[in-house]
Amino acid sequence: MCGIIGYTGKRDAVPIIIEGLKRLEYRGYDSAGIAVYADEAFGVAKRKGRIAELEAELAKVNISGNVGIGHTRWATHGEPNDVNSHPHLGEKSRIAVVHNGIIENYKQIKDTLEQKGIKFVSQTDSEVIAQLCEHYYDGDLMDAVIKVANALEGSYALGIMCLDEPDILMAIKKDNPLIVGISDDGNFIASDVPAILPHTKQVHYMNDKEIAILRADGVDFFNMQKEPIVRKPETITWTMEGAEKGGYPHFMLKEIMEQPRVLKETIANTLMDGANKTAIDSLDISHFNKVIITACGSACYAGVVGKYVFERLCRISVEVEFASEFRYKDPIVDDKTLVIVVSQSGETADTIGAMREAKKRGATTFAIVNVIGSAIAREADYTAYTAAGPEIAVASTKAFSAQLVLLYILAIRFAQKLGTIDDAKTAELIAEINNLPEKATEVLDHTDYIQKYAAGSINSKSVFFIGRNIDYAISFEGSLKLKEISYIHSEAYAGGELKHGTIALIEEGVLVVAIACCPNLYGKIFSNVEQVISRGARVLFVSTEDTKQTDKLSLVKLPQVHELFSPSLSVIALQLFSYYVAANKGLDIDKPRNLAKSVTVE
Ligand code: F6R
Repeated sequence: MCGIIGYTGKRDAVPIIIEGLKRLEYRGYDSAGIAVYADEAFGVAKRKGRIAELEAELAKVNISGNVGIGHTRWATHGEPNDVNSHPHLGEKSRIAVVHNGIIENYKQIKDTLEQKGIKFVSQTDSEVIAQLCEHYYDGDLMDAVIKVANALEGSYALGIMCLDEPDILMAIKKDNPLIVGISDDGNFIASDVPAILPHTKQVHYMNDKEIAILRADGVDFFNMQKEPIVRKPETITWTMEGAEKGGYPHFMLKEIMEQPRVLKETIANTLMDGANKTAIDSLDISHFNKVIITACGSACYAGVVGKYVFERLCRISVEVEFASEFRYKDPIVDDKTLVIVVSQSGETADTIGAMREAKKRGATTFAIVNVIGSAIAREADYTAYTAAGPEIAVASTKAFSAQLVLLYILAIRFAQKLGTIDDAKTAELIAEINNLPEKATEVLDHTDYIQKYAAGSINSKSVFFIGRNIDYAISFEGSLKLKEISYIHSEAYAGGELKHGTIALIEEGVLVVAIACCPNLYGKIFSNVEQVISRGARVLFVSTEDTKQTDKLSLVKLPQVHELFSPSLSVIALQLFSYYVAANKGLDIDKPRNLAKSVTVE
């Protein structure tokens, strides 16, 4: 949420920052801005709207410089407009700041500074950082930044420049992500890896309240007592191809198509020797009497599927909680509780909060994360990584699929250790898992029918996703995908539950997407389908079974698969359906309205 980037080096910072902002645009796209040292003053350009608007402005104002910061905003305090855009400057225009996060005590700070006669121009919480820093500045930027960090409550990742120290760029963070990239050609700060991937693969993941001082020829790190910290950079394994559209019209479609490879790599990384296997093998599951899976959005829905698989294989009770609820509900958690946190970004504020709450209460935490070095990856007791690579589209697809398969393997390994499945069953299930990438390819090889059906569904006002058992579990993700990118209202419902109320909403033309991959429940879900068809609904039936198609019933036939792992195939059909509905509506699929990837605010 909000993306920041900064550069200091021999080259002109402006094109580097603009290019980086485009790669960060998935984090927020309400407005964007840039500031560079240009002679004796800051060259600043800020514009409401997408990066393209900022570029158009830059074509007019023509600024350049070797040190600069940039920002793409997801508005929290103050509407998206030019003035509220970052960078924010102090009153005397000697300090410039870009900020990702929320300053909770900004009102008190603002009141105090206003009483001293300092004039504010924006409605943002972020402006107080620039004003306070300028107010504290007395010839040493690090001193001022430390005072600011001590005064701020809330979360922040900051890039800071000071006109009196024009050869440096300073950075500090708390509870929001910030990386420092180093290269022979200059040094960078950024919210996320893709922003600087074209320039370097050597990065430092900053810790909370560490200060980075970037110069053209090097980076130094300090703690809040101004003592130097010695750090070694990590090498990023992500590739540029992963962060490019590669000929696809949208990142989302590219990421859907990448799923067979992502499944294959996540499976290999988890079954073969390496960090994931070590994490799983070293956890003694027999110690726990309760498992809680907590996460947000799609990651939480991966957990809902995980619950069905864990309970079936491990015979252990599993609760799934939205992280935003779990953290404040005085959860029943103790040292016999295993808390599994799931997150693509590893930076979601509520998931971090839930994990910290669980740890505080004595739980052991196991994280499933995509971004190496992220806060959740570093803070969890055990971490296993999904091999999705950079996921750029706001709507999660390949990361979700990787989370599912990792949860399946976790459940199989735990069941094996608990003795709830024998070796033969384990081998059978692992063989099924190994076949998933090929079966996913089969689903992706037959997209025409879904594409056509989606084109005929764009005028739907409301769509119901129904299923039973694990098919019900995956319907949540199907429903979320549709609403977030196509803006069509949808609901996930247990097939057997419809008749207890919701069936009242079924009328002529309503679309019901029914998922049917559990052989022993096929007859039951089919009855539910007949119930809605007889009330006027048309049904898209996503199933591993054949059925006769009619003018009201259309079939998406999936390859045969073990029912426990069928969500990995049904979800691909559901993702494609949502994608093509949104594409046919001409919507901005990769950057849906009001959303941002990596939700670093509560
Ligand atoms: C939906 C989506 C979100 C995320 C959620 C958690 O398509 O992407 O619901 O799943 O914001 O994000 P992470 O996984 O980064 O913690």
